[in-house]
Amino acid sequence: RAWDDYEFHSLKLTKSDTTGVGHVAYRAASPEALARRVKAIEASGYKVIGWVEGDPGHGRAFRFEDPFGHVFEIYYDTVWYEPKEEAERAALKNTASAFTGAAPRRLDHLNLLSSDVTEFRRFMETCLGSRVTEMIRLDNGRLGGCWFTVNNKTYDLACTEEHGGGNGRLHHVTYATDQREDILRAADIFLQNGVHIETGPHKHAVQGTFFLYVWEPAGNRVELANAGARLILAPDWEPVVWTQKDRMKGQAWGLRTIESFHTHGTPPIKKSEEA
Ligand SMILES: [Fe+2]
Repeated sequence: RAWDDYEFHSLKLTKSDTTGVGHVAYRAASPEALARRVKAIEASGYKVIGWVEGDPGHGRAFRFEDPFGHVFEIYYDTVWYEPKEEAERAALKNTASAFTGAAPRRLDHLNLLSSDVTEFRRFMETCLGSRVTEMIRLDNGRLGGCWFTVNNKTYDLACTEEHGGGNGRLHHVTYATDQREDILRAADIFLQNGVHIETGPHKHAVQGTFFLYVWEPAGNRVELANAGARLILAPDWEPVVWTQKDRMKGQAWGLRTIESFHTHGTPPIKKSEEA
């Protein structure tokens, strides 16, 4: 968890012989909202796994799956973070915990890969009631990427096109810092500790987020990001559409998108799947 995540955890590591994302979980706004979502998911035709008991961080959760093999969960009952020691307790009572190090504030978003972003968009709109805030429309008519939100944050999940032929893969998970300056300091901390810095710091053109990408030691891509004060408050927001020509210009201040950004996802593709 990051220092101001209010829940017991925001990221769960599971022992595995490979990398990638085990499941993605959303918290419903109320028990009633959870029941409404479960009804919509059951009626959607998408694969339903059903109720699971939960884990140390949250109560029962309803599991379902997108057409690309990513497992999703939705739950309401949760466990609020309680400092175990006084040193973990924040000085101010409106802050979840004290902090040290690179210190991201909270979980921000996730970027998944799918071979058909339009179909993934239908899944997100049908099952989670997500809105699209920005997207990339390629010259061939396909969606190259789509940014989703279930609240007023500019995005809580992004999906970009899978180029490696994999299924159910993760592009990156992102934690938000309070300020841009924290990201520059984090870059030095990563450098000092031998963490692979892939690209950045720079500012994304799409969504305007200030970013830094690193690979954790097992190979999952992790982003530190700061979106500034931007929120999407218009109830009739129309998705911003970026063209392939727009995207050729690189990131906001001209940084070229690094090649590994188009190829590296987790878990890696097994040789037998590459054929
Ligand atoms: Fe991101």
